[in-house]
Amino acid sequence: MVADRGFERRDFGDGFTWGVATAAYQIEGAWDADGKGPSIWDHFTHSAGPIPGVPRVRDRSDGDVACDFYHRHAQDVALTSELGFGAKRFSISWPRVLPDGVGRVNQAGLDFYSRVVDECLAAGLEPWVTLYHWDLPQRLQERGGWANRDVVGWFSEYVETVAAHLGDRVRHWMVFNEPLSFCVLGYLLGVHAPGVRSRSKFLAAVHHTNLAQAAGAAAIRARAQDPVVGTSQYLTSILPTGTTRIHQRAARSADAFTNRMYLEPNLGLGYPVDDCGFVAPIERHVRPGDDEAIVVDWDFLGVQYYTRLKAPPLPVPGLWTAPLFGRDFRRFELTATGWEVRPDGLYDVLERCHSYGRFPRLVVTENGAAFPDRLEGDRVRDASRVEFYRAHLAQVLRAHRDGIPVDGYFAWSLMDNFEWAEGYGPRFGIVYVDYPTQRRVVKDSGRWFAELLGA
Ligand code: BGC
Repeated sequence: MVADRGFERRDFGDGFTWGVATAAYQIEGAWDADGKGPSIWDHFTHSAGPIPGVPRVRDRSDGDVACDFYHRHAQDVALTSELGFGAKRFSISWPRVLPDGVGRVNQAGLDFYSRVVDECLAAGLEPWVTLYHWDLPQRLQERGGWANRDVVGWFSEYVETVAAHLGDRVRHWMVFNEPLSFCVLGYLLGVHAPGVRSRSKFLAAVHHTNLAQAAGAAAIRARAQDPVVGTSQYLTSILPTGTTRIHQRAARSADAFTNRMYLEPNLGLGYPVDDCGFVAPIERHVRPGDDEAIVVDWDFLGVQYYTRLKAPPLPVPGLWTAPLFGRDFRRFELTATGWEVRPDGLYDVLERCHSYGRFPRLVVTENGAAFPDRLEGDRVRDASRVEFYRAHLAQVLRAHRDGIPVDGYFAWSLMDNFEWAEGYGPRFGIVYVDYPTQRRVVKDSGRWFAELLGA
């Protein structure tokens, strides 16, 4: 394997962070243990969808048990360090800490995260904490969730609570995980929790999330010791599906809708309404003073990259991950979720983020792929995933060599987990999880990382 890799760990530099990423709802289980309140994902997976007989989650599963990380964290933290990584990115479940979203603190929830942080530090892993990876307290959704402007204050209260408790040991913070995903899938298309389908609520959620980026960053800086504050965005490079002006306009619109809406307001650049008419009514949610309050001075940007998008000229912009459009139709390998493997797009995204001149550091906080894995005894021969990681890391190295300040890479994910509306079908882990027994089996891709990292 080493011979084919084309690079060594040292090529990325000594200060480069090597990590794995996970999210609370996707791995923890223990959905109602020790005082935890329900999240929108508990509610979404436990209730029937709008169309009788059509499940909200493909395999009718939920995150009640997931990978049982809540009880197996010590073993999973140890495994992460055995594989040679130096950092573990994980998210905090808001309703585990504040069961009603605001007010009463659940000490047992805070203690759980405190233990995980201590275990990471003892194992030589730097904890990188995401404050929101999509599991809003259900009590707050009953008051409108991200579509209610009060959420900015609710979020600040939660972030202050966590930062005050963990901020003596955690340095790296990400305020959000992929606002694009939870706003579009949860509030516009209704295929993720909370299952809302409304353009106006979607636009309200986007604006309130962008305000909460700034409020959250300020809350961390007020309560944590010497924090390094960033946020993680789904970013992609957009391909037009033809050469006419109409195709170019569709690509610009998709880019505004997918990338710029979540990056630019916090840089003081406003919303890209001129390039995307679909989002223009967002201006209705913007109040005097918001343009200033929304600005954040980020210490780093978390870049999450999975695939390129195609932008066919359609009324709703930029939602196509599928390779159905364009001249290069089916020239590229597809993952189990139907996404084209396009490592070059990661370089483009890093270069583009750097070109804003506003992010002192870029960190790839997620990158990975699902493939149809087969457990054969104690082995999972996931050669496609090994090649996926090799090719994407080669692009990170290329960016690094070109002077783009990318200084970290987190694989998505440590282990197979609950893939939201897709349930347990797609497996993204470098460690296989045999769900009935909760046995962990390091896949060939996990061994490949261990070899690269000199474990
Ligand atoms: C999300 C993860 C998700 C992964 C694969 C990212 O958009 O942050 O929660 O599992 O993609 O779909």
